[in-house]
Amino acid sequence: MCGIIGFVGREQAAPILLDGLERMEYRGYDSAGIAVRSETAGLQVKKTKGRLQVLADLTHGGADLEGSVGIGHTRWATHGEPNDVNAHPHVSGNGRIALVHNGIIENYLEIKEHLQQKGVKFTSDTDSEVVAQLLEFHYNECHSMLEAVGRCLRRIEGSYAFGIICADYPNTLIAARKDSPLILGYGESGNFIASDVTAVIKYTRDVAYMNDGEIAVVTADAIDVFDSELTPQDKAHHQVDWDVSAAEKGGYAHFMFKEIMEQPEAIRKTISPRIRNGRVVLDNVSMPAEYVKGISRIYLIACGSSYHVGVVCKYSWERLLRRPVQVELASEFRYSDPLVDENTLVIVISQSGETLDTMAAMREAKRRGGRTLAVVNVVGSSIAREADDVLYTWAGPEIAVATTKAYSTQLALLDLMGLYLGEALGTVSGADYDEILKEVQALPEKMECILEHVEDVQHAASRYFNHDSIFFIGRNLDYAMGLEGSLKLKEISYIHSEAYASGELKHGTISLIESGTLVVALGTYAALFDKAMSNVVEVKARGAEVLALTTEAYREKMEKVADTTLVVPQTHPVLQPSLGVVPLQLFAYYVALQRGCDIDKPRNLAKSVTVE
Ligand code: G6P
Repeated sequence: MCGIIGFVGREQAAPILLDGLERMEYRGYDSAGIAVRSETAGLQVKKTKGRLQVLADLTHGGADLEGSVGIGHTRWATHGEPNDVNAHPHVSGNGRIALVHNGIIENYLEIKEHLQQKGVKFTSDTDSEVVAQLLEFHYNECHSMLEAVGRCLRRIEGSYAFGIICADYPNTLIAARKDSPLILGYGESGNFIASDVTAVIKYTRDVAYMNDGEIAVVTADAIDVFDSELTPQDKAHHQVDWDVSAAEKGGYAHFMFKEIMEQPEAIRKTISPRIRNGRVVLDNVSMPAEYVKGISRIYLIACGSSYHVGVVCKYSWERLLRRPVQVELASEFRYSDPLVDENTLVIVISQSGETLDTMAAMREAKRRGGRTLAVVNVVGSSIAREADDVLYTWAGPEIAVATTKAYSTQLALLDLMGLYLGEALGTVSGADYDEILKEVQALPEKMECILEHVEDVQHAASRYFNHDSIFFIGRNLDYAMGLEGSLKLKEISYIHSEAYASGELKHGTISLIESGTLVVALGTYAALFDKAMSNVVEVKARGAEVLALTTEAYREKMEKVADTTLVVPQTHPVLQPSLGVVPLQLFAYYVALQRGCDIDKPRNLAKSVTVE
């Protein structure tokens, strides 16, 4: 949730820290801070409530702070309201140790009470300050920062990524992680720690991923990594192949719009290496054919939009695989005593690869003997590293909090996975296989056609942006797609919106339809178009305004009933949501734009949810 950066090198640290934080602001943006150490000025801390720009203004872009070692933080509040005092870095009582933290310290109250009994005074409400104070306590005992960090980690419970500097260590920063992401960056002018590679790719592509329990001692020329017993570790280096421009707006007003427009290319990158001679080839999947034949149940587990990808797949995969496919919210699955055994394939879907609930659900599934496969966008992320198999979506960095291209690439990749499993299980006919594969390959081009006519959606948004409550209705795959359309809208425009399976309307929700209520009617799923139409007629009869989405084949019928009709190209029915979701993303975007919302950083949300 929060973003952490640290730098130690031969350049002024503060501007580099601010630049890195700017690239990670999507992780949290209710307050921000930096701490820098220099020979002359000692440990200097600047932190403030509000967006990073406030901190940048306060420090003249970092120019005010001397020193070439420092840490920075952009916060998404968990313990304590967003204000100047609760912002990170937190400094120990004697002012000599500064710390930034991402995660939650579960036993912080117990440690806080213990330290208070020893006379330690606390200034903030955070769990993180407790660690800064505990560090000072142990440092006073052992006079070694590394040892003090080791002792501290043995005391605390919970999840953390830490960046720590100490006034007594002129050119060193210390990092540690457990269940919160942290990477090490090896640069020319110095070395880095960061929550995310996007923060450092401007300076280096040479990175290593910290493992749970590891501690890193970072200096300008070296990074030494230790396990929790302080035994030195060798770290494998990885080259990041993202281009720095991929994490920049490149002339677009918002990351979200840029990422919507990038979808065709992202899908091409995701699917083309996996299709050879008319077959799906998943080189990285090590599942033996015998195992696939014995699969009795498939779980698709995720949170947020990634969960909605799972809902689409449930509809399409049960048809293709003739196996029960259960889609589960990770936060529910992990505590539900799930039915998992060695014949259960558990697929977890996550853009970030760091969502805590998804990670915990995956661990639970493994513990029960299931085989796990992760569909992840961020290379080297925690989920990717722990799964039995991993398939990467090659969407590139996604910065806007509301996901678009990650959703689309997850869907396209799982379409391929469905064919792969269907072929191995012998449940997909040759004709269906060929037709679906051909249509998956045609998705980018068809999506481009939609993106060439954004003005149709823009026009609809300018007509409907002032509604307070919006219902998305649809059946089967249209319902699954509506879940995502509705989530996009509420995330960034703050309009109350709900997605309903059309058939459920008359079991309650129809009571909310009155004159002028906006209903987004989804009618792209040909097999149930007539049924969907009858629901449109029902809501029209009760005074609803209807914004409809359908395919060319049904345009005429739909236009007779709906107030506004958007049209997407036709594809194979199981792939139709991949196209239909695009106008829904654009609708959310333009509505939020009309309402003057902060599209890339919607209130209360963060892109990567690394707390429960
Ligand atoms: C957050 C993001 C969503 C995302 C969800 C799951 O809520 O704002 O866009 O769908 O987390 O994230 P993941 O990285 O696991 O896909």
